[in-house]
Amino acid sequence: MRSHYCGQLNESLVDQEVTLCGWVHRRRDHGGVIFLDMRDREGVAQVVVDPDTPDAFASADRARSEYVLRITGRIRMRPEGTQNANMPTGLIEVLATQVEVLNTAVTPPFQLDEHGKVGEDVRLKHRYIDLRRPEMIDRLRLRSRITHSVRAYLEDNGFLDIETPILTRATPEGARDYLVPSRTHSGEFFALPQSPQLFKQLLMVAGFDRYYQIAKCFRDEDLRADRQPEFTQIDIEASFVEENDVMGITEEMIRRLFTEVLDVSLPQFPRMTWHDAMRRYGSDKPDLRIPLEFVDVDDLMKDVDFKVFSGPANADDGRVAVLRVPGGAKLSRKEIDEYTSFVGIYGARGLAWIKVNDRSKGIEGLQSPIVKFMEGVIETLLDRAGAEDGDILFFGADRAKVVNEALGALRVKLGGDLDLYTRAWAPLWVVDFPMFERDDNGRLAALHHPFTAPACDPEALKQNPENALSRAYDMVLNGTELGGGSIRIHDQQMQRQVFEALGISDEEAREKFGFLLDGLAHGAPPHGGLAFGLDRLVMLMTGGRTIRDVIAFPKTQSAACLMTDAPGTVSNEQLKELHIRLRQKASDNTTA
Ligand code: AMO
Ligand code: AMP
Repeated sequence: MRSHYCGQLNESLVDQEVTLCGWVHRRRDHGGVIFLDMRDREGVAQVVVDPDTPDAFASADRARSEYVLRITGRIRMRPEGTQNANMPTGLIEVLATQVEVLNTAVTPPFQLDEHGKVGEDVRLKHRYIDLRRPEMIDRLRLRSRITHSVRAYLEDNGFLDIETPILTRATPEGARDYLVPSRTHSGEFFALPQSPQLFKQLLMVAGFDRYYQIAKCFRDEDLRADRQPEFTQIDIEASFVEENDVMGITEEMIRRLFTEVLDVSLPQFPRMTWHDAMRRYGSDKPDLRIPLEFVDVDDLMKDVDFKVFSGPANADDGRVAVLRVPGGAKLSRKEIDEYTSFVGIYGARGLAWIKVNDRSKGIEGLQSPIVKFMEGVIETLLDRAGAEDGDILFFGADRAKVVNEALGALRVKLGGDLDLYTRAWAPLWVVDFPMFERDDNGRLAALHHPFTAPACDPEALKQNPENALSRAYDMVLNGTELGGGSIRIHDQQMQRQVFEALGISDEEAREKFGFLLDGLAHGAPPHGGLAFGLDRLVMLMTGGRTIRDVIAFPKTQSAACLMTDAPGTVSNEQLKELHIRLRQKASDNTTA
């Protein structure tokens, strides 16, 4: 129906006849002449309809915002003085000879260039309108280029694209499962995959050697800006590999992607141990664009006359750390109070601080609510922190977990608020994760997942599970965990040992992962892999604020779709077929 996209027109086409199909972006009636800004996915072009062509004029006169038109006309240069250098098609216009209304449109819920005036709920409800905005089109276009580049790279490197089931059993990635009731097996449920983890391992047992999939994953967890209940992984697995192989292949993939799509050349990714990342940045996904680092001062605080500090300094699981912020002495009392409330979100019970106004004046040159307690140690403390005039030092004192989370988040917030970024892109690998962590009930839980190989032998794992490191690695970019993976356990004996450490009985292991254990017994090769969060990758590469910005039809914070109104209630007949009786009558939208 069309010869060109609106956004592709330019001076080289002057005097040619073109046919455009698209939407009326704007219509202006200039006393006798009608101007239509016509829009399609490639951009906007100006069309002029004049009364000399009465049929075309009548159609243009009828047209309203978002009507769908087909227009034929001749390209000409815009008259001097009406050219628009800010618009790619701004030097030319189309003088219409035919205007056909292909469809009308009701008044849109918001004007595209006024989308900021309506709430995100309105935009999500009418997502098909929101997706007409150039920013949205650009983001989804980039997403398509990203998956194209990734597929090309993986295919070039011998990876096979293999699909794995969506209706399956629970996979242990640590979130709640989405369940689907079975009609044919009364009382039984499928689980939607949290990842293709077990299937990709079984593909290695089968001998496929190199697998990838751009896979939908489902996790019923509390949502944040970088989490959706349904998201996409670039999932990768390979056989006869070690850490360096997987990290090498995937790092090269990301580097090539950045060159191809953004024309950015990333440096080789540095590697940092998990332990160092926690010590220096309080986070296992440090944003290395921000130059601030933690300084440990536990040893200095053991004997100070300030319980808030001496308590954690003497406790086994305590930590007292300082974050030095250059130029921070200019922060107002109000700003400091706001940062104090901010760290409160992470459980910190306060945010002690010292402003360094003039070091040459000794303690007189400092301003702080706590410096009176520090007299004996203050010079050592200032030296260790590298304090200079104009700095502020922030303190965290609590259980190490609280200090890390609170000061870690503060570090990121200060980086943004004070614009401390030293570069645009800061990728790194975090390695040498602990195998396990204690959950809230004091039980050991797998930090990654229970199929990750430990870096030690089964005996050492048994003796000292808490100190065992794993063969896992995470790729981090600008403070976001882009992807994670590991070398897997390929022998049953080790797998059993890990289940034992996790308190998973033989029976439970058989019932949950019997098929994997069977697979491991049938000649499993050494193997490992990694999965990237595609949505997060696209968010970072497009500068989106949340992953909702880069997903065509995302869900809200409460895991609902405002457009389709999913989840929704179902009829009693459907429930009956599925052998389900609701404990409470469905009321409003909620079923119990
Ligand atoms: P993991 O659970 O770390 O590992 O997930 C891999 C990557 O997926 C992304 N991701 C998410 N993105 C959006 N919304 C979510 N709710 C969400 N959850 C995770 C993250 C994360 O780094 N099977 C293993 C991988 C492996 O070992 O090979 C796995 O799923 O970017
Ligand atoms: P207080 O003695 O409670 O008035 O606290 C003195 C200073 O220490 C205040 O600036 C508090 O914000 C700060 N503070 C209190 N508890 C902590 C903590 N756990 N970590 C860091 N600073 C704290």
